[in-house]
Amino acid sequence: MEVYKAYGRTDVAYRRDIQPVKEITAKILLGDCKKVLKTLEDNSVDLIVTSPPYADSRSATYGGIKPDKYVEWFLPITAELLCVLKPSGTFILNIKEKVVDGERHTYVIELILEMRKQGWLWTEEFIWHKKNCYPGKWPNRFRDSWERLLQFNKSKQFNMYQEEVMVPVGDWAKTRLKNLSETDLKRDNSRVGSGFGKKIANWIGRNKAYPTNVLRLATECANKNHSAVFPEALPEWFMKLFTREGDWVLDPFMGSGTTVKVAQRMMRNSIGIEILKEYYDMTKSAVNEKEYLLLEGQAEYEPNRNKRSRKVC
Ligand SMILES: C[S@@+](CC[C@H](N)C(=O)[O-])C[C@H]1O[C@@H](n2cnc3c(N)ncnc32)[C@H](O)[C@@H]1O
Repeated sequence: MEVYKAYGRTDVAYRRDIQPVKEITAKILLGDCKKVLKTLEDNSVDLIVTSPPYADSRSATYGGIKPDKYVEWFLPITAELLCVLKPSGTFILNIKEKVVDGERHTYVIELILEMRKQGWLWTEEFIWHKKNCYPGKWPNRFRDSWERLLQFNKSKQFNMYQEEVMVPVGDWAKTRLKNLSETDLKRDNSRVGSGFGKKIANWIGRNKAYPTNVLRLATECANKNHSAVFPEALPEWFMKLFTREGDWVLDPFMGSGTTVKVAQRMMRNSIGIEILKEYYDMTKSAVNEKEYLLLEGQAEYEPNRNKRSRKVC
């Protein structure tokens, strides 16, 4: 046994004859993503998950783009994202139209239409239901408790690992499956001729079901030193659904680095781009740009008790 110095690890002793570690990289880049994206390799990213600056908002912290100029501002960036995404990859865009002069602005709808012209497929829309949105009252609308999570792809054949996000089937199954009718035992085809049908009896004995396209997640704002973080559970859910360990995840509007931190915890490689030095520095110091993953099944190792040990994902 000897300390495996080649990988910079001094906290664990390894057998010499085996390659027990896998490298996980987090690249933290400073600059305008419109320019920085040009330096990335084409077709190299498996998942883009990001929350760009919202139109006009938070001008005190990082400026804001006028709603009428939003599409014009964003399209050159989505053109670059189209280049760096693999044909099997997915782009998840967290966005919400703001209210201007008492009306919802149409920039998100316009953006979708323009992105389709660029070559993107608008595959799906998920809803992020903010479980803990703050109370309030407006004269002509209720409080906003959801945001869009738009899914874009380059091709109809993209990687998707649906089993990774299955949910407990829930209590409805216990009561619903207790007394099955005759219809429940055979396939019940849709009466509107859609071609869809269901056989309730298929659910007997199953304890997991596929989720819906509504994600119920609480916002997380405390102690993040950034005004617009999304909850860790958000990028985590999409990483489970669209990537495997060792895949590459990109957040071109990195902010406090939520996507990068989650990617590292989930053993995905990641790239984060941030225009503001303050946020860049904050994430850079919070993330290990190289992590070494122990391949537990293959390695024989024992903790080196004399050294300070560092968490390894
Ligand atoms: C909504 S926040 C992202 C928050 C992030 N999801 C998190 O959890 O912390 C958007 C971030 O994009 C950054 N930003 C704005 N314009 C940018 C650009 N052109 N290139 C790179 N970053 C930019 C802002 O400074 C801000 O930190």
